[in-house]
Amino acid sequence: MKGKDLLSIGDLAPDDVWRIIDRAIEQKRQGASPILAGESLALLFEKPSLRTRVSFDIAMHQLGGHSVYIPQSEVGLGTRESISDVARTLSRYVNIIAARTFAHATVESLAEHATIPVINALSDREHPCQALGDLLTIYEKKAKLEGLTFAFIGDGNNVASSLLLASALAGANFRIASPKGYEISDEIESLGRRLARSNAQIILVEHPQAAVAGADVVYTDVWTSMGQEAEAKKRLGAFAGYQVTAELLSQAAKDAILMHPLPAHHDEEIAPGLIDSPQSVVFDQAENRLHVQKAILAELLQK
Ligand code: CP
Ligand code: NVA
Repeated sequence: MKGKDLLSIGDLAPDDVWRIIDRAIEQKRQGASPILAGESLALLFEKPSLRTRVSFDIAMHQLGGHSVYIPQSEVGLGTRESISDVARTLSRYVNIIAARTFAHATVESLAEHATIPVINALSDREHPCQALGDLLTIYEKKAKLEGLTFAFIGDGNNVASSLLLASALAGANFRIASPKGYEISDEIESLGRRLARSNAQIILVEHPQAAVAGADVVYTDVWTSMGQEAEAKKRLGAFAGYQVTAELLSQAAKDAILMHPLPAHHDEEIAPGLIDSPQSVVFDQAENRLHVQKAILAELLQK
């Protein structure tokens, strides 16, 4: 992946995934090291962010580089200025772009026109940086990825899509329980089946119990993603019965871990207090975003 873009987990080979995990473990051990001295990152964000923005910003700082945050209110991507002009201009100032966009096509268009690497910092299709950080967290807790079973409960959204593809590359089984009409896209499902290593299974079910039975990882995310706020009420109805509760979690493996990318809606997709349970690794996930962003930046900048 050196020198290319990171728009989708589907852009990666299994070796790339392991190189990023290994580098992230090394970065975590090492702390600050000035390998990106003189390099600059543009954080081009159409939507809000806590973890992604701060972890990229601090990652650049700890690696001796610099980042500049450019919100949509400032740049007017596609309104004040065309996507291609923004991409070509930023390519003259900075060395790499991390873009959070509504439409996946926007981040693809940025990558097409930029002469520097572009990272998808979340689009409506995928959240690849989250999935890579999550593989690191799972590997730290379970000492392996191949052969594990991940159970995702809820919306077949950007986070679920990247995690499905990442689990396929890592040789882990992926089960997802979603209500009718909110399943993972056919495109992601078939890409996952093509990428799957070590006979990793991809199983789509309707009932949460069928997904979590004996699973090593129980994962959930919000029912209404950024940009879908107008559907929030309808989604609350559709996802009733899909809350991850202590009872549901007890049907997973005894030593299963509970994951959520945050931000969370306590009492919607996750029962109140469950994030503080001993099985929850949610804040380790949040921390690992920092270590993985460092690895992604160093790989793409060929350092
Ligand atoms: N998990 C995640 O990407 O969080 P933010 O939206 O706060 O960046
Ligand atoms: N699915 C959520 C993830 C936020 C990190 C969203 O897109 O809003």
